Amino acid sequence: MVRHFLKDDDITAAEQAEILALARELKAAPYSRRPFEGPQTVALIFDKTSTRTRVSFTVGVADLGGNPMVIDTGTSQMGKKESVADTARVLERMVSAIVWRTYAHSGLEEMAANSKVPVINSLSDDYHPCQILADLQTIQEHKGSLKGLKFAYIGDSSNNMANSYLTGMALAGMHVAVAGPSGYLPNAAVVARAQEIAAAQGGSVTVTTDPAVAIADADAVATDTWISMGQEDEKEQRVKDFAGFTIDAGLMAKAKSDAIFLHCLPAYRGYEVSAEVIDGDQSVIWDEAENRLHAQKALMVWLAERAAA
Ligand code: CP
Ligand code: NVA
Repeated sequence: MVRHFLKDDDITAAEQAEILALARELKAAPYSRRPFEGPQTVALIFDKTSTRTRVSFTVGVADLGGNPMVIDTGTSQMGKKESVADTARVLERMVSAIVWRTYAHSGLEEMAANSKVPVINSLSDDYHPCQILADLQTIQEHKGSLKGLKFAYIGDSSNNMANSYLTGMALAGMHVAVAGPSGYLPNAAVVARAQEIAAAQGGSVTVTTDPAVAIADADAVATDTWISMGQEDEKEQRVKDFAGFTIDAGLMAKAKSDAIFLHCLPAYRGYEVSAEVIDGDQSVIWDEAENRLHAQKALMVWLAERAAA
């Protein structure tokens, strides 16, 4: 039966672990799996700009024997001229999977509801679950395990990365702590869902406005831009509101001495993170960026197997 991956908890904890194991296997043997041999085509649709996602999915589909087709929606009928449902009905006749970066998460739900091929969320306003798989792979590589580790996210805790960290890291059995200024905290439904997952997996969830509380004794620390795509007009206000939330050496020193630093990128040095932290010894951001490729290949192999079953 076809499965979709629109948010972090669309898979179970066991399935997440299975995908991460496959990601490790594919990193060691990049051309060992060929689900899209033919070549079959995978549609990569972008309503927002991208570097890592576009490159990693393009290379990933090719590595899996397939043909990646990038569609910039500015040059297609999708959106204003044709509904998401009608687009899905056309695409499912010709492609083997649909990967979509968009604004409203509801669009992805509509695409999935009308598609018999897997739909993958490559970032919406609410979630960025492919990034979380790459981050988990990176933490596993550097720490050897995930369960029981403390993961701290400092910054815009109301954005897509915060929502995905809360649910995705909880699913991996981690203790997740997020800190943001008041007005930039996750919504109650996401926190409740993360708590429910954490309770089942032996982790915990902390939401605070104090970065020092969130980062204390963390094994892995992350941040993200204060101004997500689509929020550019709010820049001036946000830079004021996030004062005190920069991860600099002083704040990083409150995490464990061997903590690693992650950032999904693109990064804005001097705002959410200082140059000395992101370019310093504890930073694993280039491994993290590379792991987008391996983790997403694993996800596509896993979804293709289920779609074929
Ligand atoms: N982290 C991430 O998704 O990067 P891009 O916006 O460059 O794809
Ligand atoms: N929160 C950021 C993530 C970019 C990968 C955004 O949505 O722009």
